[in-house]
Amino acid sequence: MATASEIAAVGVIGAGQMGSGIAQLAAAAGCAVLLLDADSAALTRAVASISASLRRLAAKGQLSQAACEDSIKRIRCVSTVQDLREADLVIEAIVENEHVKKKLFVELDKITKPSAILASNTSSISITRLASATKRPSQVIGMHFFNPPPIMRLIEIIRGADTSDEVFAAVKSFSERFPDVFKICRLGKTVICSQDYPGFIVNRILMPLINEAFWALYTGVATKEDIDTGMKLGTNHPMGPLQLADFIGLDVCLSVLRVLHNGLGDNKYSPCPLLVQYVDAGRLGKKRGVGVYSYG
Ligand code: CAA
Ligand code: NAD
Repeated sequence: MATASEIAAVGVIGAGQMGSGIAQLAAAAGCAVLLLDADSAALTRAVASISASLRRLAAKGQLSQAACEDSIKRIRCVSTVQDLREADLVIEAIVENEHVKKKLFVELDKITKPSAILASNTSSISITRLASATKRPSQVIGMHFFNPPPIMRLIEIIRGADTSDEVFAAVKSFSERFPDVFKICRLGKTVICSQDYPGFIVNRILMPLINEAFWALYTGVATKEDIDTGMKLGTNHPMGPLQLADFIGLDVCLSVLRVLHNGLGDNKYSPCPLLVQYVDAGRLGKKRGVGVYSYG
């Protein structure tokens, strides 16, 4: 099993909002990154956004020009799971769907080296169940980044029922390597640890807030703008809950609420019909140009 200092090659699967940010962090931390997505257009978009993000940091003097260009060069886009054979750590950031993730973990278990650690960036799904799809449950762990990964300071680590102490220690210490890269700016990752319950710590608390904002809109309590302004100025949140839902992705919010509802069995997690309708209509939020708001 790889220790933190032996994690030299990181596979990232899913090059969407989260995977691209995670790949950026791992490359900036000095790792060789293998970035995989089922959609080649997503890979093209990810490389463009990572390069722009790193160059913005360099332009602001938060990263040297050389470190910026070296980080970009460390990222290699690949097209099959077999290309991740050499990875010491694989971080999965694909669609929030247990069945699809499990299928991927079965494949990863077959092709990665026996020492590799398999991590999921899932927002809510049981790490224990993902681990049960493999023959190495002690080497499976939740590594939950926050959006946008390059600037959010938290990583929530989730131990499955069988995650070993060694794997937990390696992933925790690896996660804490990220701030070193950005030590000249204000960024720094803090690690928290959650037991393996639906939605873990942050989403268990955040998603009911977002859901309640949808109920407020659905039942005509106020306009979307007033709901968001109320929560921004009334509680000093950087974004209102509806704007944040668009930013996260309404599909992700709905999936997490369904996991919370099914797993915890309390109606307070039952997704608001308006959220369901938006997702049914393909209004997935900022990434699709329309959600609660429209983005030009
Ligand atoms: N890479 C590097 N830097 C970035 C960046 C990126 N991808 N995106 C923004 N930045 C930088 C900007 O360059 C800017 O830097 P300076 O201050 O040095 O100029 C700084 O971040 C702030 O950016 P902006 O001025 O563009 O915008 P802002 O002040 O409105 O901040 C925000 C943007 C940080 C996203 C802020 O609105 C925010 O914190 N929103 C809430 C985000 C949040 O709650 N995320 C968690 C969602 S829940 C989750 O992730 C878990 C889940 O499972 C669903
Ligand atoms: P996204 O829709 O932006 O990106 C997902 C990417 O995965 C897409 O590019 C898609 O083509 C790719 N993909 C889907 N199935 C695949 C497969 N089988 N093999 C390879 N690639 C595949 O989604 P996202 O917002 O980046 O979310 C990804 C994961 O991260 C989810 O589990 C989500 O719950 C979690 N997460 C999301 C946020 C957020 O704010 N959006 C925050 C923390 C964690």
